[in-house]
Amino acid sequence: MIIAVGADHGGYELKTKIIHWLTENGHTVSDVGCHSNDSVDYPDYAEKVVQEIVSGTAKYGILICGTGIGMSIAANRHYEIRAANCFDENTAALSREHNNANVLCLGARVLSEETALNMVRIWLKTDFAGGRHTTRIEKFSK
Ligand code: RB5
Repeated sequence: MIIAVGADHGGYELKTKIIHWLTENGHTVSDVGCHSNDSVDYPDYAEKVVQEIVSGTAKYGILICGTGIGMSIAANRHYEIRAANCFDENTAALSREHNNANVLCLGARVLSEETALNMVRIWLKTDFAGGRHTTRIEKFSK
């Protein structure tokens, strides 16, 4: 299972930490950039991660910007994407359990590194609950 990871300049340093954690913990990562602190536009990196998921190359995506807001707005313009901008371990778990989120958005300027890494860990190990939540998701997504 491949996890596509992207960030803008606001999320670049946290992306590096997250990719390190993912690979250390046995996950296969596709790093779509960016690759420095130089200013870039977050929709370009949201689109790269989205395309990896839509094409079937990656199962999940992680997108990081300053707040997570821009990345989640951009990624959610695609019918196949359920991008959740989460702010703690509980919302990260619930975004999988209730919303079957396939993209986790993180705000590097509003989360500590420890919280962000915990969120990634919990998000990846939490299963979708199905049932009534499937009916709801089918109303806006596939
Ligand atoms: C970049 O300065 C910042 O606007 C971006 O990382 C993000 O927070 C947008 O939602």
